[in-house]
Parts: sequence; structure tokens; C-alpha cells
Amino acid sequence: MSATLTNGTLLSKTVRAEVARRAAQLAAQGCRPGLAVILVGDDPASSIYVRNKINACQESGVHSICDRYPATFTEARLLARIDALNQDPTIHGILVQLPLPSHFNRRTVINAISPDKDVDGLHTMNAGALMSGAPRFLPCTPAGVMRMLAAMHIPLEGSQAVVIGCSESVGKPMALLLLEAGATVAVCHRQTRDLALYTRSAELIVVAAGHPKLLTAEMVKPDAVVIDVGIHRTADGKLCGDVDFDAVRKVAGFITPVPGGVGPMTIGMLLMNTLQAAEYAFKTRP
Ligand code: GUN
Repeated sequence: MSATLTNGTLLSKTVRAEVARRAAQLAAQGCRPGLAVILVGDDPASSIYVRNKINACQESGVHSICDRYPATFTEARLLARIDALNQDPTIHGILVQLPLPSHFNRRTVINAISPDKDVDGLHTMNAGALMSGAPRFLPCTPAGVMRMLAAMHIPLEGSQAVVIGCSESVGKPMALLLLEAGATVAVCHRQTRDLALYTRSAELIVVAAGHPKLLTAEMVKPDAVVIDVGIHRTADGKLCGDVDFDAVRKVAGFITPVPGGVGPMTIGMLLMNTLQAAEYAFKTRP
């Protein structure tokens, strides 16, 4: 038996089509949704992610601007630029691409973004809103995973889930969203002594460890749902995820591929967050 593949590219097209439809409606009323993306430094992977985000905006009728700064850019100048974007009525979402060069304080930079324009859902206020069960902007990757699980009709209430990785943008919010949906959630990380002990009993495994092919077939219960958030380039130039895809697909019930799984959904949810920020700004305009 081979797992059912979940096509994130196809599903993200549905999300983007909805964004395009609502963005056109809003634009007809005089408010075109706008996203500002800021990239500091010359990390090649970040440059590709940013380019994909800007292209996705264009395809969905979302206005976008992209600021590119050298790695020597100062934190004070970045904060001043964010402040200007916070005041700009044509911009409804602001995303600072991470990681930032090491001389930046990531928390200071993220918290300089207005919580109303924090379409990455990483501001302390938005993270707190999620924690308290009243989320506003959800971080895009976990939001995309939840959308995929819903599209696959995966029952979460009472299920046993494992999240591997505890980052602020993926692992932690993912665990909270699954918890909110009624799953019993274990969060595993670098210090987890026996990872397989947790994964082998899980009905759902979300892997966001940043480690190529970490999850192997022996670690997966038959028919489990496996969601792969990782993306890596192998020595032979191919892309792979945090899951040993070829082996795990023979055991799992559902599996997301890399590429074409979670990645496109992340961008879809970024567009959706930007649209919702614009709709809210329009509704509450002075
Ligand atoms: N770098 C990798 N993923 C992300 C993301 O979702 N948001 C931001 N801001 N930076 C990233």
C-alpha cells in the first residue's frame, strides 16, 4: 500500500483564487491589498522565497513592494523603514524575511511591525492571541498545514499528534493549533531522547526539524498522516524534506511531498493574511 499524496500546489491554487476574488472586490471599492517584503542580506534561499512571495502577490492581484538591503544595513535604519511602512495606508502587510544577519535582534525587529500588519503572525501580541485561543494572524506555515488537514478530512479531535521541531514560526504554533483542534500533542525537539518512541504511536506527525530525511519508515505507524515542512537541497541538486519520502510513503496513509506540499500553502496563507489585513483596514477606515 502506498500513501495518498497531498498536493499542496493544487490546494494552494484554491486559496489563491479566493484571495484574487476578494482582492478584486476590495480593489473595486478603492482599496487594493498591499504587502511589503523586506530582505536583508544575500542568503540565496531567502532570495528565492522572497521572489516566490512577490510573484504570488502579482498573480493574486495583491500590490507588493520589496526592499532589499545589504547585510551591513543597520537595525536603526530597518526599524525606521518598518515605522514608515506601518504608517503607509497602501501597505496592509509587512514581512521581514528571516533569518536576519546576526547583528539584528530578531524580536525587536518583529515587534516593530504593527500587530495589525503582522501577516507573518510572529509579533508577540499575535503569538499571545494564538496562545489564548483567540488568534488574529496565524503564522503562515502552521495555518497552511491546518488547511491541508481540513481538505484531507483528517479527524483531529482525540487524535494523537507529534510535532517535531519547536521553532517560534512553525513548531510551537503548530502544536497550539492542533491542541486547539482537540489533538493530544507531543512536541519533540533536539533534546528528545527517543524520538521514535513518540512517532511510532502517532496518528499524525508534522516534521519541522530542519534535518533532511530525519523521519524514516521504521518510525511511522501504518496509515499515519505525515506532513513534511522541511526543504533541503541534496548533494545531487534535488530537493528533499525532513521525511525519507520514498520509504515513508510505503507505510503512511497520507503524506505531503517536497516540493509541492506545504511550501505552496505557506505562500497561500500569507496572501490570505494580507487580504484579511486589508479587509479589516478598509472596514475600520477613519
Ligand atoms: N523564512 C523562512 N520562512 C519564513 C517565514 O514564514 N516568514 C519569514 N518572515 N521568514 C521566513
